[in-house]
Amino acid sequence: MIGGGSVGKRHARNLAAEGCDIALVEPREDRRAELAGGMRLVGNHATLEAGIAARRYDGAVIASPPSFHLVQGQACLAARLPLFLEKPVCPRLADAQALKIAAATSGTPLLLGYTWRWWPPFQSVRRHLAAQTIGTLRHVKFTLAAHLADWHPYERYQDFFMASTALGGGALLDESHWIDLLLWFFGPPRDVMARVEKISDLDIDTDDNVDLLIGYDSGLRISMHLDLYGRPHEKFVQFSGEKGTMRWSEVPNEVAIWTTDSNAWSREAFECQRNDMFVGAIREFLSLLSGRSGPLTCTLDDGIAVLRVAEAARLSHAQGRRVALQDVS
Ligand SMILES: NC(=O)c1ccc[n+]([C@@H]2O[C@H](COP(=O)([O-])OP(=O)(O)OC[C@H]3O[C@@H](n4cnc5c(N)ncnc54)[C@H](O)[C@@H]3O)[C@@H](O)[C@H]2O)c1
Repeated sequence: MIGGGSVGKRHARNLAAEGCDIALVEPREDRRAELAGGMRLVGNHATLEAGIAARRYDGAVIASPPSFHLVQGQACLAARLPLFLEKPVCPRLADAQALKIAAATSGTPLLLGYTWRWWPPFQSVRRHLAAQTIGTLRHVKFTLAAHLADWHPYERYQDFFMASTALGGGALLDESHWIDLLLWFFGPPRDVMARVEKISDLDIDTDDNVDLLIGYDSGLRISMHLDLYGRPHEKFVQFSGEKGTMRWSEVPNEVAIWTTDSNAWSREAFECQRNDMFVGAIREFLSLLSGRSGPLTCTLDDGIAVLRVAEAARLSHAQGRRVALQDVS
């Protein structure tokens, strides 16, 4: 486990529950002591070099801030360690492409952690989209609003990597989960028009407000809003089709559908808990380590596609124009 912060601890607990032995790499002494106090560790190292040298492993999980993902990913792949890599792949598209070269050279499998793909309600949404339950789709509105100061009550948000551009924080990169879902549902768009900016009073040097207008050749139009200041936190996606509307929400945990045929809302309610998507992802990683073949739920290429949209968004904001995806390489 490389990185013993919020998600690293979660993955470590989930892997231990699946019967794995865990060794930790974490530069902060207090975090190393905290993890060692809460679970059995077979190694506890301040650097990745020391961790890799200490013993043989079946695989590695990278759960450090995004600016370390390239160098740490390259080191693990060079050591032929199958990787579970937390999202985003890297802060920049070019770095993600460099990691792809390392993965191809190593031939080692890599599963990417856009974990909402393992969230049963979104799997249901995807089935409804494929079945055209609400007819030809015209517009989708994605919203993810979450005030940064509420994320980790145990630390100052200014000290969290999310506050720092140098470490790979900010709404565009961190909330790129929603860009990934867009691509998972509809594939790559034609163009993007964007604002990627800092507009709140948060004491951070990253973007905290992202608005994207996205167009597809099919005529489908998307609006996406991501922010780090919204209270109460809100996550929803609303799909408008010729024959109705489908709305996914985190709270309530449901997929609601209205169609012209029914002229009423039907609601599919879910009992799943947030940790379930992480368990789903980690179980898929373990099956990969056991030699499972076949398509992966989330790949390095999927993460590169997300960063291409993010790069188009940055360019659009900087130049005040609509940017075609095919012009971003
Ligand atoms: N899939 C998801 O839903 C999800 C959820 C949370 C976080 N994440 C991703 O996981 C990563 C970590 O996020 P977090 O919320 O756990 O952050 P965090 O700040 O809580 O934890 C990061 C940890 O990495 C450690 N670290 C810093 N430099 C390191 C290095 N060189 N090597 C190893 N560890 C290092 C930090 O000390 C810290 O303990 C980010 O990429 C984030 O986007 C994904």
